[in-house]
Amino acid sequence: MFTRYVGIDLGTANTVVYVRGKGIILREPSVVAINTKTDEACSVGKDAKEIIGRTPGSIVAVSPMQNGVIADFDVAAAMIQEFIRKALKGTLLTTAHVVISIPSGITPLERRAVKEAAEKAGARPVHLVSAPVAAALGAGLTIDEPAGTMVVDIGGGTSDIAVISMNGVVSFRSVRVAGDALDQAIVNYIRKKYNLLIGERTAETIKLEIGSAFPDVHESTMEIRGRNQLNGLPENITVSSAEIREAMADPLKQVLTAIRETLANTPPELSADVLEQGITLTGGGALLRGLDKLVNRETGMPVYVAEYPLDCVAEGIGTIMTHYDRYEDLLDEEVRYYESGQ
Ligand SMILES: Nc1ncnc2c1ncn2[C@@H]1O[C@H](COP(=O)(O)OP(=O)(O)OP(=O)(O)O)[C@@H](O)[C@H]1O
Ligand SMILES: [Mg+2]
Repeated sequence: MFTRYVGIDLGTANTVVYVRGKGIILREPSVVAINTKTDEACSVGKDAKEIIGRTPGSIVAVSPMQNGVIADFDVAAAMIQEFIRKALKGTLLTTAHVVISIPSGITPLERRAVKEAAEKAGARPVHLVSAPVAAALGAGLTIDEPAGTMVVDIGGGTSDIAVISMNGVVSFRSVRVAGDALDQAIVNYIRKKYNLLIGERTAETIKLEIGSAFPDVHESTMEIRGRNQLNGLPENITVSSAEIREAMADPLKQVLTAIRETLANTPPELSADVLEQGITLTGGGALLRGLDKLVNRETGMPVYVAEYPLDCVAEGIGTIMTHYDRYEDLLDEEVRYYESGQ
């Protein structure tokens, strides 16, 4: 029997796949294009995202993950299957031993869905690992010593905050407010202020181009196009970094509150470690300009952005799979995570 160890960061926005011995070999959007006439998946990942809006009405793009959990079981299973197939293409495969990350705040039912979807995709056995723990490892932090390490993973659907010591989560918060919520807040702001309707993709582009969490010397403006809500006609307006910061203020505040609550629930010795070692930001949201400064101002802790924030979770799963004996205890830890504050 030939077994391949495959790590999957099954994110709301992106799926990243790690193959032991090879490293990260796939990063694709968590999107599946479905032919509604036959109910079959016609493409997955990048290919599926590319055809959005360019296809006949019978093909729709589906995001099977919402807020870090499976929203559509069959589509998620099909997506996992296709990603595993792509990742192992050209290798002699008999079984895929899979480790998948999940947000720390999900329910036992939601956990089971992830596990079963991977099993349906042909993986066996399937182990789960808490995303912020994997993120901490992937960011190169030490988590198996008796010292507090704090990581904040901000993805598309969830922000996972954890203080980890001796391979265990000491305190955590998981909130379903992250990159998507920032995009949505931008959509709402532009609609209210300018009576202009824009899509979430446009909002995300605005966020990436001129968005920031903290005032900065590189403030800029951007011209955007939407549809005027009053007369239905296309219209261009110019928005500034300051406006977009104002638009995102509310969801960012919710993330900051969760960070403060996590710190408040951390034993004093460990918070002293965090004060010394700082907070590490991971996930795509960590790339938001000025977020480190904002978190620093709100907590007084030093804040660092991981070098490759989008890869941390998958790299961390890779570390676990490569050093099984050292990190085996991290797999399938569940009870402790459940009462999480949503
Ligand atoms: N430069 C950037 N500035 C701000 N946000 C960014 C940047 N790059 C990516 N993002 C945001 O990061 C998010 C995706 O991050 P990531 O891939 O870590 O999420 P995910 O793992 O798929 O989601 P989750 O962990 O919530 O399930 C998107 O909301 C995207 O807009
Ligand atoms: Mg993620």
